[in-house]
Amino acid sequence: MLASKKTLVGLDVGSSAVKAIEMTDLGDRFAITGYAQRPVESKDTIGDTIQEVFAAGGFRTRQVVTGVSGRSVIVRYVTMMRMSDEDLRNAVKYEADKYIPFEVEEVILDCQRLEEAKEPGMGENEMKVLLVAVKKTFIEDHVALLLESGLKPLVVDVDCFALGNAFELKLMNSARFEGIDKVDALIDIGANKTNINIMKKGTSYFTREVYLGGNDFTDAISRRLSMDLQEAEGVKLSPAGRDAELEEAVQQTLDDLANEIHLSFDYYENQFDEEVDEVFISGGSAALPGLAPSFERAFGKKINFWDPIEDMEIRSGTIDPNELAANASRLVISVGLASRLRG
Ligand SMILES: Nc1ncnc2c1ncn2[C@@H]1O[C@H](COP(=O)(O)OP(=O)(O)OP(=O)(O)O)[C@@H](O)[C@H]1O
Ligand SMILES: [Mg+2]
Repeated sequence: MLASKKTLVGLDVGSSAVKAIEMTDLGDRFAITGYAQRPVESKDTIGDTIQEVFAAGGFRTRQVVTGVSGRSVIVRYVTMMRMSDEDLRNAVKYEADKYIPFEVEEVILDCQRLEEAKEPGMGENEMKVLLVAVKKTFIEDHVALLLESGLKPLVVDVDCFALGNAFELKLMNSARFEGIDKVDALIDIGANKTNINIMKKGTSYFTREVYLGGNDFTDAISRRLSMDLQEAEGVKLSPAGRDAELEEAVQQTLDDLANEIHLSFDYYENQFDEEVDEVFISGGSAALPGLAPSFERAFGKKINFWDPIEDMEIRSGTIDPNELAANASRLVISVGLASRLRG
């Protein structure tokens, strides 16, 4: 089992593009040994798109780790009495209906104790527990899609946690990012949604998905500049002299997103009585003009953009390093999924 996990593909089935990155464990470090991405044409042909990605990626393995996200995925941080692992598993099963909006029989449940999480006012005999519930049918459909595409799904992760795992991998690989005891807010802005994960010392203390992203910016451009969605997407990706108009068109949507994210910071800061120290932005929409000033205004702090693979070796004859680097910001989730190689 261990030997067969030396190489893994992190497969991120996003709403706008399927992205896959293969990582191989070289013993003292990981190398990137395959990569491909393809735009999603429609929901009905997603299996074909996945197969195209696998035909193009130069991958050595069909073992994949994928992620799920959306309204069928529920993540809760709950306070419970300290108890043994076995009691915890039972308690979670019996109490799950208090925390999740689905029937317990309808979901796959997972939980993890967060030993170091301390809220002001929490009793000595209490602990924080991370509870994850995903609708069974949702996971089953996702896994069936992968099996039909000839893949071997090993783990199904959750996008928000993959975001955190990619950041952890980055901390391990980079001196500049050396992990000091601070609170990092990770924000991945895709096409449909924005993932938020607030991390401290390698543990996620808060995650949330906000249903605002690149499509909403395109909508705003289409409305403000009176053009269809395709043309608006084109102006967004290459403004060609229309930068000022573009920034003006997306301003309100950007501010809305910034405010939603800021609400999450407020929630974390109130709950744990400590501030978010640094903010790290990724995802395809991170490149939107005007994003940095809008976010910095809303958060009252400087934001960082980051590249999950800049310190990693590429060992592949088929990867174009320039294409990989140009897409790095969109690959955070897939890198986080593949980083399950760590065990
Ligand atoms: N240079 C750019 N400027 C602004 N937006 C961009 C740029 N490049 C890509 N985008 C936007 O990024 C989005 C795609 O990013 P990404 O691949 O992270 O999304 P996704 O994973 O498919 O979506 P989701 O996670 O929401 O399902 C699209 O909305 C696209 O328009
Ligand atoms: Mg995404």
